[in-house]
Amino acid sequence: MYIVKKLIYSFNEICDYRGVLVAIQQIKDIPFEIKRIYYMYNTKKDVIRGCHAHKNLRQVLICISGSCKILLDDGIEKEIVALDKKNLGLYIGANIWREMFEFSEDAVLLVLASEYYDDTDYIRNYNEFLKYINSSSNVC
Ligand code: TYD
Repeated sequence: MYIVKKLIYSFNEICDYRGVLVAIQQIKDIPFEIKRIYYMYNTKKDVIRGCHAHKNLRQVLICISGSCKILLDDGIEKEIVALDKKNLGLYIGANIWREMFEFSEDAVLLVLASEYYDDTDYIRNYNEFLKYINSSSNVC
């Protein structure tokens, strides 16, 4: 059976009397080279972001302020992950439908991405997503 390609990292927190520092290195701490970083904040109440899958892109999501939830869906199983700690990183592989929701007012969601922005890598329609992953050549 095809399983949700997610992994939760708990990045090392370097704490001293000044506070906390978290460092993330490509390849060493996450499994890809980082080609792009983006982040979202001021997300309005009850907004659902995402609602798409990617054919190739891999990402790590980190809620560096506040909290939010991520729904992951591989076409068979759904799982909700709460990002409520500043050192948690949620890895999302290709071919996973994701929705981000329940953003707290102070939420800042940082995304580390394995590829440059490419609109053709998106699957934005859920039925197309199901068709895509059910075509055996697209999913290993
Ligand atoms: P969108 O894909 O709707 O964000 P989300 O999936 O989080 O709901 O992106 C919003 C806009 O930002 C859209 O016009 C595309 C643009 N965008 C970029 O230009 N570069 C990027 O790296 C990303 C992620 C989005």
